[in-house]
Amino acid sequence: MTETTGPRELWGEGVAADYDASCHELYEPDVLGPTVEFLAGLVDSGRALEFAGGTGRVALALSAHGVDVHGIEMSQPMVDQMMTKPGAELVPVTIGDMANTRVDGEFSLVYLVFNTIMNLRSQDAQVECFRNAAAHLRSGGCFVIEVMVPALRRLPPGERFVPFDVSADHIGIDEYDVVNQMLTSHHHWISDGKAEIFDSPHRYAWPAEYDLMARIAGLDLAERWSGWQRDPFTSESTSHVSVWRKP
Ligand SMILES: C[S@@+](CC[C@H](N)C(=O)[O-])C[C@H]1O[C@@H](n2cnc3c(N)ncnc32)[C@H](O)[C@@H]1O
Repeated sequence: MTETTGPRELWGEGVAADYDASCHELYEPDVLGPTVEFLAGLVDSGRALEFAGGTGRVALALSAHGVDVHGIEMSQPMVDQMMTKPGAELVPVTIGDMANTRVDGEFSLVYLVFNTIMNLRSQDAQVECFRNAAAHLRSGGCFVIEVMVPALRRLPPGERFVPFDVSADHIGIDEYDVVNQMLTSHHHWISDGKAEIFDSPHRYAWPAEYDLMARIAGLDLAERWSGWQRDPFTSESTSHVSVWRKP
């Protein structure tokens, strides 16, 4: 019989310690390589600022590519994990909320990947995040987000659950609240007969709503792709990489 533990603290020490293992596939060269190439291509000779960089997955790879990278991250335990890795001393991170924390200087790129705009759970907070990105950008600089397209087409009438991973060691189910545009990702990690639960609450939005947030922040849509390889964004795309530019 499987023993189940209670939900783990969001971005606390336990989650931070297991984070890299839980998303090891995102460290694969065929994922991280195109991400870094895409972002490095937008930096020009300026600096990059990552919102919510977590354990440094992208920031450290971009820094190793020769880019001057800074970060704003809310969770000290996630940053502590990053600090154990080679090259972390080259990436200064300010602890704070990406919706309103400022760091000194101007940047040619601000980026926010892996669905993390959705961790801001109100429209106001998401708009503030776009404004904060714009405030850090020099003229001509870009704000890039990578985020899922809500899977509402997979919801028959009356249904609210969409499984996104059912494997031997992990069951992942998204629960949609279509009235409030909320989505809770329920993760059950199973190992040694024990299930660990991690529930991650999000606010989802269509690409058009992000475009409006960008306009409110004074940014213009420059590019939208279905991923880091610049494949076209279509009606079948399950995520998008969008680039807004400061005039
Ligand atoms: C899914 S992880 C992504 C980490 C990293 N960007 C990556 O791709 O591996 C989400 C991260 O966002 C951080 N985060 C969530 N809300 C935040 C906020 N309002 N301000 C700053 N960081 C936040 C969490 O602490 C966590 O490290």
